[in-house]
Amino acid sequence: MTEKALTERESDPQSAGRRRFINWLWTGVALAAAAELAWVITSFLKGRRPASAEGRSDRLVEAGAVADFPPGSVTAFPRGRFYLARLEDGGLLALSYRCTHLGCAVPWNAETGRFECPCHSSIFDIRGVVVRSPAQRALDIYPVAVENGIVQVDTGRAVKRSDFRPDQVVYPK
Ligand code: FES
Repeated sequence: MTEKALTERESDPQSAGRRRFINWLWTGVALAAAAELAWVITSFLKGRRPASAEGRSDRLVEAGAVADFPPGSVTAFPRGRFYLARLEDGGLLALSYRCTHLGCAVPWNAETGRFECPCHSSIFDIRGVVVRSPAQRALDIYPVAVENGIVQVDTGRAVKRSDFRPDQVVYPK
């Protein structure tokens, strides 16, 4: 390309506009990549958060006294995003709010005695077991401990499960 042609091209307002647009586009791509990288690093660091001094997760929720949860009841803990289910035999299960299909929050329907997902109609029983698909596996559970009659739920450790097993239930002593 001759020097004259180059000079003409540089002074062409359309070329200048195209260059500005491409520069703007590259800046946008770079900012989006930086934001994603920051998000990935933050998520990674959050996942590696150490347990507190007592060796427990800092997401331990004190749910209340065992006597506050009658057999056959389900109590919602919106801040912890879990339900505490007290089974008819007195056993306790802490069930995640998240539907195992695509993650919608699943409300408890006290009238039907089931968890009914509003998104694609999956249904789970009081133990979190799939009664109707499309969900393919039971609701996640959180570890439960009972100390001095007080129910504690570790919401920092969701446990995935394909189905219900009796050893998932915690019985107060
Ligand atoms: S997210 Fe619950 S059924 Fe799809």
